[in-house]
Amino acid sequence: MAAELEINRWGITNWISRETEIKPIILRLLDEPGTGVSAWARTTSGLIALLLFVQFATGILLAFHYVPATANAYTTVAFIELAVRDGAWIRSMHYHSSVLLPIALAAHILQMIFRLSFTKNSAAWIFGVVLLGLVLGAAATGYALPWDARAINGVNIAISLAGNTPIAGGFLKTWMMNGNAISTLTLSRFYGLHVWIVPMLILTAAAMRVFIFGKRKDAGDEPRYAAWARSQFTRNALVIGIAFLAISLLSVVYPAPFGPQAAESSTYLPRPGPQFLWLFEMQKYTDGTLAAVLAMGFPSVVIGGLIAAAFLLRRRVDLVRIAAIGLFTVAFGTVGVLTATAIYQDHSDAKISEQLAKQELDESKFRASVFEPQTQMPPRPSKREENDKGPQSSDAVLASSSSPMPVPSAYEVNCAKCHGERGEGTAKFPELVDVTTRDEDQLTPDMILAIINDPKAVGRSSKMPSYKNKLDDDQKQELVEWIKSLSPKDPNGETPHVQTASIQDQKQ
Ligand code: HEC
Repeated sequence: MAAELEINRWGITNWISRETEIKPIILRLLDEPGTGVSAWARTTSGLIALLLFVQFATGILLAFHYVPATANAYTTVAFIELAVRDGAWIRSMHYHSSVLLPIALAAHILQMIFRLSFTKNSAAWIFGVVLLGLVLGAAATGYALPWDARAINGVNIAISLAGNTPIAGGFLKTWMMNGNAISTLTLSRFYGLHVWIVPMLILTAAAMRVFIFGKRKDAGDEPRYAAWARSQFTRNALVIGIAFLAISLLSVVYPAPFGPQAAESSTYLPRPGPQFLWLFEMQKYTDGTLAAVLAMGFPSVVIGGLIAAAFLLRRRVDLVRIAAIGLFTVAFGTVGVLTATAIYQDHSDAKISEQLAKQELDESKFRASVFEPQTQMPPRPSKREENDKGPQSSDAVLASSSSPMPVPSAYEVNCAKCHGERGEGTAKFPELVDVTTRDEDQLTPDMILAIINDPKAVGRSSKMPSYKNKLDDDQKQELVEWIKSLSPKDPNGETPHVQTASIQDQKQ
């Protein structure tokens, strides 16, 4: 009995240790006992376990309400924020834990470097590093789900990075979009990755770490480990308790960001979560292939390098420590500097910080508002009207259009940046309102289609890109109908609504 690991003497734990394999598993998981600072440093394991637990628990609660379709996603998230009991808090817990996970993992990796544990316990080391990659993957895919202006911007960046990847670019882009354009299928793909693939990989990695890897202990050593396990359990419990309170409080004070709907947001400045500010900053200086190579190469090199350190340099302990510390410092130092620069640049630019402050205000107004269910009866009132009383109406929304049709998502994604959120035009690009009736234009549907397909071919400026291969026929047709509907004087102005509504319904 004395030689067995005895966590405590409660009846239930005695039963568990008699009937299950938990004792030997815990024993195998344990690293060399430590004391003082080292023991406290190792509570990063408990912290990571807590954060992962919060992610799974709150993620499941969010999934109860969320619908991954471009027409509904935003509304369901607004529903979670405004109508679901404690929904805003649950969503914020999910958000803040996702930001804290990479930080906790960085701390975890750092303490392992200092204890040189990757030479002794390489499974734990590799698990920590792999987990860092996986939680970044989870955060990147989760970013798309609210389908607000932030999310759509993020998806566009992710897809252009994928498309600019050397060699595999074309394939990656189509795979990620789940088709030839950003659509509900794209959102489904991100959703599938976020709620199935990445969590499965995390659980698999955790299960492997717990059940397959670990150091078998000599029977004679067990009492020593048992005593340590007890005190380490207490330390972890304390850290977990404090961390949970802190994250709960953080989630009350700072709700998770939720931007406006894409169509209402021509002035909106999307900002990623803090764990991706380094990438956001990198994007300011790089373009095309270089941007893609850096965005994906940088984390891959860091994660690959940290894993390789455990294998390549096993026998040269002093060298290992230097290499690992060096790589860690360069990697996380770069992330730190880029993050700080991004924050500094936003703060020091008066226009940007004013706009960001306005967005915050809009968001808090939104949070104070009452949830308005989405009306799905076609034709829908224009979002602008819906929003006149809504908290997120921005001046830019006061466009000249009075189309009763919803803005097609292909328009929001591809055209709005030049022609305005509602076809009202922007400083450098023409408005689309009334193009079918204006004297100088009187564009026919065929002409609109021709311009969308290849502006140059019909004598238009090449400043407008060709969408021949970027959009499918349905999307082009939907765009033509919508542009026609921007001309209320058009005698055919009313008919398309019904048609488009049915196109939309088929798609949903
Ligand atoms: C990079 C900016 C840009 C984007 C993106 C863009 N356009 Fe254009 N668009 C232009 C410019 C510039 C013109 C003027 C071309 C000309 O008349 O020489 C134009 C003209 C047009 C016209 C004719 C307007 C008129 O006054 O006769 C239509 C219709 C149009 N665009 C539709 C679209 C649609 C639909 C999309 C999205 C699929 C789109 N555009 C995306 C820049 C853009």
